[in-house]
Amino acid sequence: MSKTAELHYNGKIFKLPIVTGSENENALDISKLRGESGLITLDRGFKNTGSCESAITFLNGEEGVLKYRGYSIEELAEKSTFLEVSFLLIYGELPTQSELDTFTKDITEHSLVHEDVRAILDGYPSKAHPMGVLSSLVSSLTAFYPRSLDPNRSSEQVEGTIIRALAKLPTLAAWSYKNRVRQPIVYPKNHLSYSANFMQMMFSLPTTDYKVSPVIAKAIDKLLILHADHEQNCSTSTVRVVGSSHASLYASVSAGIAALWGPLHGGANQAVIEMLEEIKLDGGDVDKFVAKAKDKNDSFRLMGFGHRVYKSFDPRATIIKKAADDVLTELNVVDPVLEIAKKLERVALEDDYFKSRNLYPNVDFYSGIIYRALGIPTDMFTVMFALGRLPGWIAQWKEMRENHEPIGRPRQVYTGENARSYVDIENR
Ligand code: CMC
Repeated sequence: MSKTAELHYNGKIFKLPIVTGSENENALDISKLRGESGLITLDRGFKNTGSCESAITFLNGEEGVLKYRGYSIEELAEKSTFLEVSFLLIYGELPTQSELDTFTKDITEHSLVHEDVRAILDGYPSKAHPMGVLSSLVSSLTAFYPRSLDPNRSSEQVEGTIIRALAKLPTLAAWSYKNRVRQPIVYPKNHLSYSANFMQMMFSLPTTDYKVSPVIAKAIDKLLILHADHEQNCSTSTVRVVGSSHASLYASVSAGIAALWGPLHGGANQAVIEMLEEIKLDGGDVDKFVAKAKDKNDSFRLMGFGHRVYKSFDPRATIIKKAADDVLTELNVVDPVLEIAKKLERVALEDDYFKSRNLYPNVDFYSGIIYRALGIPTDMFTVMFALGRLPGWIAQWKEMRENHEPIGRPRQVYTGENARSYVDIENR
């Protein structure tokens, strides 16, 4: 029997259906509420609003659980590869060997971008942040593949757009970095794996080939897996909302990259390292910065702490913390910033302010450390996040289209002036 909740308002009773998910999460369906009662719901920042039903990622923030299509993040990070996880997210099942081979071959063979992209890239000053460059280059793909503009085309056409997005993002990402450091761009090499190819495009020079260490390629692959999807976060919701207007996949992903850039979302990984550097430069007094973060008159926050959904621990942070330790040991890297990070974590976790608000280190707290150890420059950290998140954005965009979701268009409670008469400029 289907469950309902009752809302008593203005002397009437409104029945609200309860929608139950496969992990027994319950939601009030308020989609008919306004028509029946005149009420809308108000939920600033969508803290308690489900925007869709989705079969891609399950997250239990109280218990620190994260699963892609039912598979635990711990198991995937240990046993899978980024391309296999991408297939899983986008198509719903782990691929067979032959499916994975075809998928990998298709992606590898589309990694080159049109030569005219170089002309666009050349127009950017070297100061341009790689996230801004990446977002606009992804949007520019619509110019090179005009058929991608119509997402209602055949499924083969949409499939081609998906493959091109996955294939070309590492190239565009590496080139956005080459622009930053004013080095010649490096072309993809098809014999390398997804992660190794990205690293060689970042670090090869006309004078020297960059030899990709297997330790580094594996660590990058694991990081990409951990970032691959995270249900309805800020950038993914952006991708779904932009796509809901039937904008193309490239336009939707470009918007997702822009949303990810902010320091409260993916940009936090860059902000964490900048904060740790600042603490180091200031003499390393961790307590002073913890006090600043607690001070309501100070806008400073401990970057890499807290999460909208995780209220116990972020399972991705646990895996990354261990991976960071392993990589630093394996590569023999001694990073004083890591010591400050560990001290900061200890102090914050024992502090009542953080304990009472359930503020724990999130994925970005340790990812910056590992990216540094792998030689990734600081302003490329959020680009790494975008590379990882791409299959999630694609899967969510595809699901939204296949479910024929309506255009995303929230309501508001208007708090401005009531009707006023126009006043001529000389009388104002
Ligand atoms: N440092 C100090 N205080 C904090 C922090 C922090 N990092 N995060 C939250 N708080 C306090 C906040 O001031 C508030 O206190 P009070 O109840 O006294 O007003 C309380 O904790 C709840 O915070 P909120 O801002 O209402 O929570 P939110 O769910 O809106 O924000 C967040 C979540 C991630 C934006 C926030 O915790 C934050 O700004 N963290 C730092 C940035 C960061 O690390 N972002 C990466 C998130 S993980 C990667 C991703 O998936 O995007």
